[in-house]
Amino acid sequence: MTITRIEDLDAPGQALCHTALAMRARAYAPYSRFLVGAALEADSGEVFTGCNVENVTYGLTRCAEQVAVTKAVSEGARHFRRIAIATDMDPPAMPCGLCRQCMIEFARDLEIILVNPAGGVRIDHLARLLPGAFLPTDLLDRP
Ligand code: THU
Repeated sequence: MTITRIEDLDAPGQALCHTALAMRARAYAPYSRFLVGAALEADSGEVFTGCNVENVTYGLTRCAEQVAVTKAVSEGARHFRRIAIATDMDPPAMPCGLCRQCMIEFARDLEIILVNPAGGVRIDHLARLLPGAFLPTDLLDRP
């Protein structure tokens, strides 16, 4: 994992972080009041956004990362290179286990950029965050 600052990222990386930070304002999180924004960059360069959308039944809550992946796939994108995830935690919060599984379906070694409003950044890789994952190939490559 790399610990850095938003201003030390390349220009597209900074833009991705700012998009994720802005998406926190769209979060529907009246129960946890924990606002999460996500910006998922496809191989094409197109960016798909997400925020967490909670539900009074709690179990129907969707994380920001899941919303971004769902939006992207429904728009025809399936190959991704990185995602920025914004929270107000210091250090910036890690994606939950469900989100890791959701993302690894489409990008085994996605770059994960975690950011907070103070400009703190942590960079990691999905393959490291979800070792030994149950992968699409486990089912698709059966004889
Ligand atoms: N949440 C996310 O959006 N992404 C994560 O990776 C962790 C948790 C949301 C779900 C819920 O709305 C709130 O944060 C508190 O768990």
